[in-house]
Amino acid sequence: MGEVVYNIDPSLDPTRDHILYDDGSHKVIYLGTQGVGKGDVEVNSYLIVDGDTGLLLDPGGYNIFPKVISNISKYLHPSKIQYIYLCHQDPDVAGSIPMWRKMSNAKIVVHWLWVRFLPHFGFENIEAVVHPLPDEGDRIVLGGSSIEFIPAHFLHSPGHFSVYDSKSRFLFTGDIGINLLERPVLVYDTLDPYLGGMRTVHERLMPSSKAVKMWLDKVRRLNIEAILPQHGAIISRDNIDKFFRFLESLKCFLD
Ligand SMILES: [Fe+2]
Ligand SMILES: [Fe+2]
Repeated sequence: MGEVVYNIDPSLDPTRDHILYDDGSHKVIYLGTQGVGKGDVEVNSYLIVDGDTGLLLDPGGYNIFPKVISNISKYLHPSKIQYIYLCHQDPDVAGSIPMWRKMSNAKIVVHWLWVRFLPHFGFENIEAVVHPLPDEGDRIVLGGSSIEFIPAHFLHSPGHFSVYDSKSRFLFTGDIGINLLERPVLVYDTLDPYLGGMRTVHERLMPSSKAVKMWLDKVRRLNIEAILPQHGAIISRDNIDKFFRFLESLKCFLD
């Protein structure tokens, strides 16, 4: 491991790709996916590279595929992507999967519940292509690193995960911690102006604060440098306690 460099800064341009963490052999890259959509909800796609192998997190929908693949190519040949992870089944996460299947043999990592829905994307030989995640979570080896899949079920999907990368200490939270912003932002400076919008989205999407508390019990044991959601901006270390307290205060749809 070389010198560790973090690049989590409110000045980062959300329409461009950025290396967010780099220790020489392990990198985490934001793929510049905000600002592409034509009315579609903005998404964040990320790439973890360890040595010469990659994990693509939440590749996104149909429209952003060209930008995602060209930005990945700056860091890793797309054929070196070993895993493509879908935090859950929604089209903003998985809509580009048919294109990925045409050009990649990467294993699709997704909760077991969604495996038999994937053939609707045009999959063949599904068992050979998918790495199903069990309810209780899982770990995979990526190069010299271990990637942990932490259950986040019912937040909002019944088969939903967060991902913890122990090298960068980043927690990728899928649809937890999301926001639908008026203009693209990649890293929050301060959370306060955004908590009202986040509350509206979370109290609608998350069915029950019981599920929120189950997830908080799991992730509070982790040493987290930043929270990286699939929509909205990245929550840096100094805002994480406030974000967790915000989650505890939610009055969800079924509460
Ligand atoms: Fe979703
Ligand atoms: Fe989403």
